[in-house]
Amino acid sequence: MKLKSLVRPLILAAATVGAAAFAQAAKPAAPAAPTAAQQQVVIDRALLGVFKALPARFEDPKNPITPEKVELGRMLYFDTRLSKNQDVSCNSCHDLNKFGVDGKPTSPGHKKQLGGRNSPTVYNAGGHILQFWDGRAPNLEEQAKGPILNPVEMAMPNEARVVETLKSIPGYVTAFQKAFPGQADAVTYDNMAKAIGAFERQLVTPSRFDKFLAGDEKALTEAEKHGLKKFLEQGCQTCHNGPAIGGSLQKLGLVVPFQSKDQGRFDLTKQESDRMIFRVPTLRNVTKTGPWFHDGSVTEIQTAVKLMAQHQFGKQITDEDAKAIVTFLDSLTGELPKSYITKPKLPASGPKTPKPDPT
Ligand code: HEC
Ligand code: HEC
Repeated sequence: MKLKSLVRPLILAAATVGAAAFAQAAKPAAPAAPTAAQQQVVIDRALLGVFKALPARFEDPKNPITPEKVELGRMLYFDTRLSKNQDVSCNSCHDLNKFGVDGKPTSPGHKKQLGGRNSPTVYNAGGHILQFWDGRAPNLEEQAKGPILNPVEMAMPNEARVVETLKSIPGYVTAFQKAFPGQADAVTYDNMAKAIGAFERQLVTPSRFDKFLAGDEKALTEAEKHGLKKFLEQGCQTCHNGPAIGGSLQKLGLVVPFQSKDQGRFDLTKQESDRMIFRVPTLRNVTKTGPWFHDGSVTEIQTAVKLMAQHQFGKQITDEDAKAIVTFLDSLTGELPKSYITKPKLPASGPKTPKPDPT
């Protein structure tokens, strides 16, 4: 890919003026080459159009966000009673206090069984065009129906059992009626997924990068802008873009094949054109969401950056450039919405609520 020269480093304007005045009085010794952090880096703003600032929430007209749905969704997100042995919740693998991940290569679910893929973050996931590493769910609401019935995750035997459990908890019956007013039978598997989706649609983590996108040049340090420059020069934004800085379907190993048992979307569709196609992960908070890649096999973020350059562009980048890019990636770390993610008081079980089933 060809990108025109993106940035031009300038010596700090104030330093230049000072040096000019000084030069008239005496001949200064040749200055040491400024380090990346000292140079003023100017980013061509035309190149930033592929990114989008994070919205306050990712709306979907099919599932309007209401405070009642969000409140219900938050409870469901934390409730281990949605799992067979009542010991796993969404938050077990997507810990909201840990940037929406559990920090493990793959996550233990029911009976501590491990799945085959790394748990991606739920923060800013509303900004993805599709959900899961292979994009097999169209949106957050459909996605939420998966893990509860997945035998290695929450392992509920079927939807009916989940609904039966929810109906056995009087506080949930009331909460579903409030969240889905006017429905004769509000406690349904679909409505459960809608409530969880509505809650997730506001899991957004704006960062200094959003301020920079909005025009605040000072929102990023010079070192971060230097890293952004390297990121743009490499062309990383061809796949990592939009509000999540990720999100579309792309090939892992575009130029240099990437060895993996997991063939991504091909395993789902069996279409040759889908071989090694993965949903591009978000780069927001990425320095906090390791280990990285679909199998959690990469334990250093700098290695992840180098592997990207190698497999997506066929380029070996220097440690220095990889480090610079990581410095930029750090600026994508946002603020966790502390009060929004506080674990709520969960409604008490009723006499008919099933007991934990360890089998
Ligand atoms: C046992 C661990 C585990 C539990 C429990 C779990 N997840 Fe996940 N989650 C994963 C893994 C692993 C993936 C990726 C699987 C794949 O792509 O095939 C995933 C993917 C996702 C994604 C897609 C994100 C993206 O970038 O594509 C969302 C959203 C999500 N989970 C939300 C939830 C919600 C909501 C719950 C509770 C109803 C939940 N998860 C329960 C492990 C878990
Ligand atoms: C051709 C599309 C494409 C390009 C270009 C690209 N990436 Fe990626 N990136 C992906 C895909 C697909 C994945 C998921 C890899 C996987 O499934 O294991 C990914 C994963 C990553 C990850 C790991 C994220 C995680 O949560 O595991 C990082 C970090 C990353 N890319 C950074 C970069 C950087 C930096 C560049 C530029 C040097 C870049 N990418 C260029 C498609 C791309």
